[in-house]
Amino acid sequence: MPAVSLDQIVALAKRRGFIFPSSEIYGGLQGVYDYGPLGVELKNNIIADWWRTNVYERDDMEGLDAAILMNRLVWKYSGHEETFNDPLVDCRACKMRWRADHIHGVCPNCGSRDLTEPRPFNMMFRTQIGPVADSGSFAYLRPETAQGIFVNFANVLTASARKLPFGIAQVGKAFRNEINPRNFLFRVREFEQMEIEYFVMPGSDEEWHQRWLEARLAWWEQIGIPRSRITIYDVPADELAHYSKRTFDLMYDYPNIGVQEIEGIANRTDYDLGSHSKDQAQLNLTARVNHNEDSIARLTYFDQASGRHVVPYVIEPSAGVGRCMLAVMCESYAEELTKPVPTEKLAAAAEALQAFLKSVGRSEKISAEARDALLARGAELSQALVERLPEVEQLLAMPGVDQIELSKKLRGQTQPLIDEHYRTVLRLKPRLAPVKVAVFPLKRNHDQLVATAKAVRRELQATGEMRTVYDDTGAIGKLYRRQDEIGTPFCVTVDFDTIGQGKDPALAGTVTVRDRDTMAQERVPIAELEQYLRAKIRSA
Ligand code: GAP
Repeated sequence: MPAVSLDQIVALAKRRGFIFPSSEIYGGLQGVYDYGPLGVELKNNIIADWWRTNVYERDDMEGLDAAILMNRLVWKYSGHEETFNDPLVDCRACKMRWRADHIHGVCPNCGSRDLTEPRPFNMMFRTQIGPVADSGSFAYLRPETAQGIFVNFANVLTASARKLPFGIAQVGKAFRNEINPRNFLFRVREFEQMEIEYFVMPGSDEEWHQRWLEARLAWWEQIGIPRSRITIYDVPADELAHYSKRTFDLMYDYPNIGVQEIEGIANRTDYDLGSHSKDQAQLNLTARVNHNEDSIARLTYFDQASGRHVVPYVIEPSAGVGRCMLAVMCESYAEELTKPVPTEKLAAAAEALQAFLKSVGRSEKISAEARDALLARGAELSQALVERLPEVEQLLAMPGVDQIELSKKLRGQTQPLIDEHYRTVLRLKPRLAPVKVAVFPLKRNHDQLVATAKAVRRELQATGEMRTVYDDTGAIGKLYRRQDEIGTPFCVTVDFDTIGQGKDPALAGTVTVRDRDTMAQERVPIAELEQYLRAKIRSA
């Protein structure tokens, strides 16, 4: 079962070093996050998988890495200066600002309906270029990576001698001054996009749009988001972006956030190449483009068959890396029972929970809102305590709990049970896992076990194919749990049999490999370990 609440993911991400709030020691910066030691690995693995599938494994793609800063005219002719706006309203009562389309006429902060009329707010960040601050010396931070591809269309075409249809892929940062960034990585002000602009002959665009829809769904499945978990939203005409003829949004059901876009697949027609071209009147454009007196190029393709220059249509699959990572973490997250909890211990935990909830109900120290939230969550957990016992940790992190004396008793009853009988596991596809293999010595104060484990780690790491770590900071059971929680698919233990000092001499030179998902253990000769692990990582 995937994560039931976003809090579970936020807590894990902070605790284990996937994601940190930006500039946290100065109070943070709203809508901006940093990727920690494990987050950067997971993010890089997602991007590498996307690049491998969309660039290396196809024969119709090229890559690009365009600059973030671009000539301001790019954003004039792309239409972003004019139309990349969100509707902004102010609450006259509490002075907060909101996106009009997110709040249904009521201020979420104070409940007032006294709001200003919506007015357009351009989401592009501006920055100063050079030392003189005048009206002509600024640039925008790009709000999408796509434009870097469009303005390089002719360069890539000439350099690669491609024929239509072909595509250009790019991964990079984008920036949007979102009015209300929220929901962790979901809506942020600085994020990464993985974008493809796929250029086709006009008339074949609808067919290619469908093909890309299927190709992208297959990729999501490959990284662990099954087809059944994605909804395709055929965006209605009145919601389409200014450049789009038709867009399919792929939607994922995030806990707490709801069904939301993870990727947009748009038919951008000849809008972008047309808008950035000179001599537009001679190009037979179908899109309503911005009249362009500044461009020095015609962004066209010479079609040998007809002997004419055409402006290709564009199909654009565009996914956010952060939203992808959040979906992957939610989908792969599980808290599960590893061995049965004795009935009397479960009964004691249930009793402690009831006593805690009674105390919450009576408490005058906490707000009515906090009390209702605690009682509702507590009632939910009581319904299925054996399955949901680990969620008591989140209950105990909710506002108001520190005012309830009995919370300590509840923690005291439940924490040892959670530690002993449950585990948190990220069932990441091995290819995406930040760490592929963890190697442990059975005892950390035994020189030969330690030296052998370190040598095994070094050799696996030297393959360059599997990030391998060494750990001896606890008992093996605890080390397994720490690796499960970050999604490490394989743990290798070096024990006395490995070094020929165990009961069975036949096991000398072998190690135990424990599988994250099945928890099954297998004895594998060190000489075959690399091959064994490589095959498993590739096949899953
Ligand atoms: N070039 C097309 C384009 O930028 P978009 O639907 O605005 O289209 C594409 O953005 C993807 O970028 C979205 O599906 C989402 O995954 C990601 N994205 C957009 N705005 C975001 C934000 N504020 N925070 C995180 N990801 C965002």
